[in-house]
Amino acid sequence: MSTVVIVGSQWGDEGKGKVIDYLASEADVVVRGQGGNNAGHTVVVGDKKYALHLIPSGILNKDAVNVIGNGVVFDPEGFLKEIDGLEAQGVDTSTIRISERAHVVFPYHKTIDRLAEEARGKAKIGTTVKGIGPTYMDKVERSGIRICDLMNEEVFEDKARAQIEAKNLIITKIYESDPLDADEIISAYKGYAKRIKPFVTDTTVVVYDAVKADKKVLLEGAQGTLLDIDFGTYPYVTSSHPISGGFAIGSGIGPNMIEEVVGITKAYTTRVGKGPFVTELENETGDQIRVAGNEFGTTTGRPRRCGWLDLVIVKFAARINGMTCISLMLLDVLSGFEKLQICTGYEYKGEVIEHFPADLNVLAKCKPVYTELEGWKEDITNCESFDDLPKEAQVYIETIEKLVGIPVKIVSVGPKRSQTIIRERIYRD
Ligand code: GDP
Ligand code: IMO
Ligand code: MG
Repeated sequence: MSTVVIVGSQWGDEGKGKVIDYLASEADVVVRGQGGNNAGHTVVVGDKKYALHLIPSGILNKDAVNVIGNGVVFDPEGFLKEIDGLEAQGVDTSTIRISERAHVVFPYHKTIDRLAEEARGKAKIGTTVKGIGPTYMDKVERSGIRICDLMNEEVFEDKARAQIEAKNLIITKIYESDPLDADEIISAYKGYAKRIKPFVTDTTVVVYDAVKADKKVLLEGAQGTLLDIDFGTYPYVTSSHPISGGFAIGSGIGPNMIEEVVGITKAYTTRVGKGPFVTELENETGDQIRVAGNEFGTTTGRPRRCGWLDLVIVKFAARINGMTCISLMLLDVLSGFEKLQICTGYEYKGEVIEHFPADLNVLAKCKPVYTELEGWKEDITNCESFDDLPKEAQVYIETIEKLVGIPVKIVSVGPKRSQTIIRERIYRD
């Protein structure tokens, strides 16, 4: 058994797609377990760049089975567009399997997502407007439509019509907006159903059999720990569980089957969307990181907010996810800074707190306590081993290991597959 979880240890966009692609080259099965096409994972292979949203980043390994698990909210329109885009780039997508239990995103979910955001005014969450929250709301409310319903011609139309009618009441009466056309939606979704059918199966069996057969199973996280509905910076979070525990539910395996949890960690911190951000740099240094790291969203194109590395967050993520190691990403972006800061605690009301607080009112008042380290000038994008890195970069990595208490097994020094330093193997042979 070699079951590896990849999770984001910050606010998403840590570089998960790159590491997943790297590790997928050896994987037999790659699994998405939650979220939807709110995710944006960039994978760079040679001169080609792929932007993946709903489709697992393992898709570029033609020998791996790519599972979209039951915990995912599935947008058929987005999925088919992505498939078409990948096929046009010569990628074989026949390896995809979709859970019959996954919930389906409908146009009314996206409409309500947008209208709810508008209605929040200043208290806006800053969602991706992909209908993620409203689809999970329906799931929990027990009115959702699942892939197995979409596949069943006898029940689909009635279920969809009832939902569209109910949602049109919300859209027109609460938000005073225009109703959606039921016939149009139903006809479009019947078309999608035909194209999706060959991919649909009981994915829990695919994943379980692979684990039992001692195959390499890569559980591919989307979003990040601080976007978790329970552990994130609520309410500025997504509506699912992007943490390691989310995979037990979202892909249907026992928690005891998870062996290794790799926390994908940016060498600094970014977030898109709203909410307090203790180490945020709203100055030239922040701009410098944004430009050097090309910190603009893969899904929405929004500029990402940037700041120094916050180890209060990473330690929290290590605890909540049971992280066994770190993959440190975008270290090359920090080249050229004279001094680097690492946040080791928060000052709140004259005291230093070390644990990430639940209350955003507390978080908003926290001031970072920094440890200052020397920067390095050298371009590190061609470094192939830890020893190739400048001494200051080595100290930066070792400081993280010491303060978080787990090893940094992977160091990424550029977006390409080849720009990856593996200090210790992730899969157990
Ligand atoms: P994800 O959502 O966690 O998969 O991350 P995104 O793909 O949204 O954002 C990470 C960005 O950083 C992408 O544009 C990657 O191509 C890029 N990237 C990943 N690793 C590195 C790295 O080590 N150095 C640099 N410069 N870019 C990287
Ligand atoms: P990847 O997988 C960064 C954020 C949104 C918003 C909040 C809620 O690329 O790391 P939602 O549309 O999910 O209801 O939005 O969550 N968000 C992400 N931020 N990376 C992501 O995914 C995200 N997925 C959602 O910006 O603040
Ligand atoms: Mg992303």
